Amino acid sequence: MAATTDLVVDLGERSYPIRIGRGLLGCPGLLDEYVPGKQAFIVTNEAVRDRYLDPLLASLPRVDVEYACIGDGEAFKTLDTYATLMDRLVTGGHNRTTAIIGLGGGVIGDIAGFIAATYQRGVAFIQVPTTLLALVDSSVGGKTAVNHPRGKNLIGAFYQPRCVIADIGTLETLPTRELKAGLAEVIKYGVIRDAAFFDWLDDNLDRLLALDATALAHAVATSCRIKAAVVQTDERETGLRAILNFGHTFGHALEALTGYERLLHGEAVAIGMVMAADLSSRWGKLPRADARRIRGLIARAGLPVKPPPVSADAMLEAMGMDKKVVDGRIRLVLTDAIGTAALTDQAPEVAIRETLEAGDALCAE
Ligand SMILES: NC(=O)c1ccc[n+]([C@@H]2O[C@H](COP(=O)([O-])OP(=O)(O)OC[C@H]3O[C@@H](n4cnc5c(N)ncnc54)[C@H](O)[C@@H]3O)[C@@H](O)[C@H]2O)c1
Repeated sequence: MAATTDLVVDLGERSYPIRIGRGLLGCPGLLDEYVPGKQAFIVTNEAVRDRYLDPLLASLPRVDVEYACIGDGEAFKTLDTYATLMDRLVTGGHNRTTAIIGLGGGVIGDIAGFIAATYQRGVAFIQVPTTLLALVDSSVGGKTAVNHPRGKNLIGAFYQPRCVIADIGTLETLPTRELKAGLAEVIKYGVIRDAAFFDWLDDNLDRLLALDATALAHAVATSCRIKAAVVQTDERETGLRAILNFGHTFGHALEALTGYERLLHGEAVAIGMVMAADLSSRWGKLPRADARRIRGLIARAGLPVKPPPVSADAMLEAMGMDKKVVDGRIRLVLTDAIGTAALTDQAPEVAIRETLEAGDALCAE
């Protein structure tokens, strides 16, 4: 096992560690202190089970473990899946000291967390993320949810895990497209909070794409540190936490308009960040050269930077349906320098429309 980095998400009595390292899964006793009783219930899917269930079981030698595989993908993050898992817990005789373990990407972590938040009014929850997006984003911060046919993540709870086991070795089997989608969120942290990290990403992107373990561990740890700091300040998203949505209002609209099929979430966020950078500079807040740097890094990561052909009107309407709208004004996270971001409802509509119509000219001269 490589050296580990331990971070703490400091939320008073709900504080928890994030253990980051390569080869963590399989270490005996890894999870002992986080499983309160003698039972655990692992939620995963077949693709992840085949690769990582055995190592996880080796980390739980003293516990009675049951596991359930759900279907693969966003389409299974539903109340139906939730009900099936609840039936398994009840018929399996799981009591209040059982621990729910989410082993997989963000879909698994989100639904497993919601199960943990609600089974017998809340039982211990452990996150074992296996995608880059889940390692740097969804496993940290306590947002859990399932989707409703009318919208993503409409049913859920804030519920913090007891610990996060971030084994970067799991990224070695992740499809490249999913790795790149996770990189979009990593780049986001640099843009919104840490200019030096953005510079580091600029210099080390090739190492990350080549799965260099040291570089990945640094990127995951820095991302988690930034997310933890934001969540510690604003756990329930009444203020600062909104900056984590940089690129997401545009991104969610693109996902919705393309039927949630054409773009991965991280790819939509990548285009959304290019749009947010473009708007920030059109509005005169962000130097054009910085907007170009943001677009350039996203493009070098192999992520899309050009929106699919959707009309500005359709985008405005889709953004109007977004949860981040208050009193009819579109609230967007924009940046005035790499390393800072803020939520604003003051962006001029003319500039928003220009950004939505810019196409391949986003962030251009
Ligand atoms: N809770 C939060 O704060 C938060 C934040 C961001 C996103 N999310 C949610 O996360 C979800 C997206 O997560 P995701 O991008 O991880 O997608 P995902 O969970 O669908 O995983 C992507 C794909 O990778 C596969 N996979 C997972 N780990 C693998 C591995 N190590 N090797 C090979 N294949 C592997 C999965 O089976 C799946 O096909 C969305 O539902 C989104 O709403 C939640």
